[in-house]
Amino acid sequence: MRCFTDLKLHKMNFKDMLKDNETVFKDPVALDYDYIPKVVPYREAEEREIILSIKPLLQRRNGKNIFIYGKPGIGKTLICKSVIKELEETTDEVIPFYINCWKKNSTYKIAMQLAEDLNLPFVQTKKTDELLDLVKREINKSSAVFIFDEADKIEDYSFLYFVLEEIYRKTIIIISNTREWLVTLDDRIRSRLLPQTIEFKPYTKKEVEGILKERIKYAFVEGALTEEAFDLIVDKTYEAEDIRVGLFLLKEAGNNAELRASKKIEKEDAVKAIRQLNTFSIKSSESLDDETRRILKICKENSGKKIGELYKIYTSEGGTAVYKTFQRKISKLEKAGFLKLKKLIGGSEGTTTIVNYAYKDLNSFVN
Ligand SMILES: Nc1ncnc2c1ncn2[C@@H]1O[C@H](COP(=O)(O)OP(=O)(O)OP(=O)(O)O)[C@@H](O)[C@H]1O
Ligand SMILES: [Mg+2]
Repeated sequence: MRCFTDLKLHKMNFKDMLKDNETVFKDPVALDYDYIPKVVPYREAEEREIILSIKPLLQRRNGKNIFIYGKPGIGKTLICKSVIKELEETTDEVIPFYINCWKKNSTYKIAMQLAEDLNLPFVQTKKTDELLDLVKREINKSSAVFIFDEADKIEDYSFLYFVLEEIYRKTIIIISNTREWLVTLDDRIRSRLLPQTIEFKPYTKKEVEGILKERIKYAFVEGALTEEAFDLIVDKTYEAEDIRVGLFLLKEAGNNAELRASKKIEKEDAVKAIRQLNTFSIKSSESLDDETRRILKICKENSGKKIGELYKIYTSEGGTAVYKTFQRKISKLEKAGFLKLKKLIGGSEGTTTIVNYAYKDLNSFVN
């Protein structure tokens, strides 16, 4: 058995292996998902459209509305936050609100956030209508930009109706993963919203390379990341069509190099990082029961379909679980991080859920 002194000794030795000045990281925060870089390359055209939609507010006129859609991890949230930051640095006349509808999925929660962002007093004691009334009076003294992100998660739309009807000068920006979100909107809201649609397309390989290169400048000590490691990470990020994968791999590769007490991030550190991304899911998928694994396989092969369609495929392939059980297993798979679910509300079929496989093809990460 190990005694305490052993452990202490071990820890001290371990720490000594890497002196402070030997770290590969200059500023690891630059690899965080919510870090806002100074420049956002390759989204200039989209940024311009967003700025143009807000510009009338600066001239005390009503703004234009925008609907943004596109796959995960390709800069939709980032560009909106970056525009807001710029707006805040330019003027106090326009109030910007950023609302994540995944977290704030009801009109009450959104009303609370608006009121809190405006620093209104005693918000905890007020009901939704009272809150909205106070918010309206405050905002209508000037004008506002509303960004409703993760719109696929919205469960009730009355707040949108409120903003459209009660706020005089505004720009509403809605961000979703699917174009369908707009189609399923209530006519009453859609005809008032009339947004300009902007599709965000995945980045090309050259663009992925440029984006990661820019982040690396801030994140790592100059020369720490070898070209071989970088190229491999660019390849995998491009395959995944998700910049988050690249940021994860860069950070993990850096950690791996430090564990070896190396000042350089070599190809082996990147390969290990890719395996980490991979084994994490493979390991936990082994812990799933057979039936759940079978359902996961169907979801992976039919990513992007509605839950009802997936259930049909499942039963046609001999699955025997009832729909409720099927739904429960899907929701378990979402919690474990294998699936991403997007709720579509309204539309001809009522509320339905789109099921996406969280990673396009995990096996392709390890050659
Ligand atoms: N052009 C870019 N330059 C620098 N970093 C970028 C760029 N595009 C995306 N990123 C980074 O990639 C990550 C994912 O981007 P973002 O959060 O904007 O994704 P998203 O399109 O909103 O995805 P989701 O639909 O999953 O919310 C963020 O950390 C972001 O900073
Ligand atoms: Mg986002």
